[in-house]
Amino acid sequence: MTDISLAIIGGTGVYALAQLQDAEAHQPVTPYGAPSGPIRVGRFAGKRVAFLARHGEGHSLPPHRINYRANLAALKAVGVQRVLAMNTVGGITADFGPRVLACPEQLIDYTWGRVSTLSEEPGSEVLHVDFGDPYTPALRQQVLAAAARVRVAVVGHGCYGATQGPRLETKAEIARMKRDGCDLVGMTGMPEAGLARELGLDYACLAIVANWAAGAGPDPDEVITFDDVLANVAAASAGLPVLVSAL
Ligand code: HPA
Repeated sequence: MTDISLAIIGGTGVYALAQLQDAEAHQPVTPYGAPSGPIRVGRFAGKRVAFLARHGEGHSLPPHRINYRANLAALKAVGVQRVLAMNTVGGITADFGPRVLACPEQLIDYTWGRVSTLSEEPGSEVLHVDFGDPYTPALRQQVLAAAARVRVAVVGHGCYGATQGPRLETKAEIARMKRDGCDLVGMTGMPEAGLARELGLDYACLAIVANWAAGAGPDPDEVITFDDVLANVAAASAGLPVLVSAL
């Protein structure tokens, strides 16, 4: 299936593409096990698109239990080359308030204990891929150019900090991440981006800001609720079809 234009990995709040037409489900078995759910391949926004719900279609997998290797290997097995990874995040710095869409250019990995490389198994090739620019620069440029063409606002910079979860962060953790240079915080950005590089896939992040991270917003004592997260994701992802149509 080499005619797939793009894969979209949906994050929290994006469990399906409502407008995906004539979809077929694929669940390839990979050397790393099973992906989070079926890969649904169909027509979306005028393109042949593959969609995978990262947490499973019923959000049954917490971030540290996702089989990131199987997900990306399964996408590769159905013929995908470009991956647009949607990640629901908290915003840390001023440009990244709730409902903002962003295509970050850097990341910092604070996760631990996740299988984060294809080199895990004894006897597998030891890979030391270049990761200075963790998101594929050409794909980021395509995303930003497409967004500009169809007038969907996407912030074209930023650093994503990947935390372990599944709990949200403390105010002190977010303050430290801000000092480190993070603009966004999420739980699923790594090891996914690193594995995509190991697999030779083009990979960019489309982050959806669902809330101010702990202590980062105008009301530092605001409590983050999952209902607010889902409402903001639904509002901010409304521009996805038109963005993809231009990609
Ligand atoms: N922190 C980490 N992950 C998240 C957040 C957050 O505030 N909001 C949505 N995903």
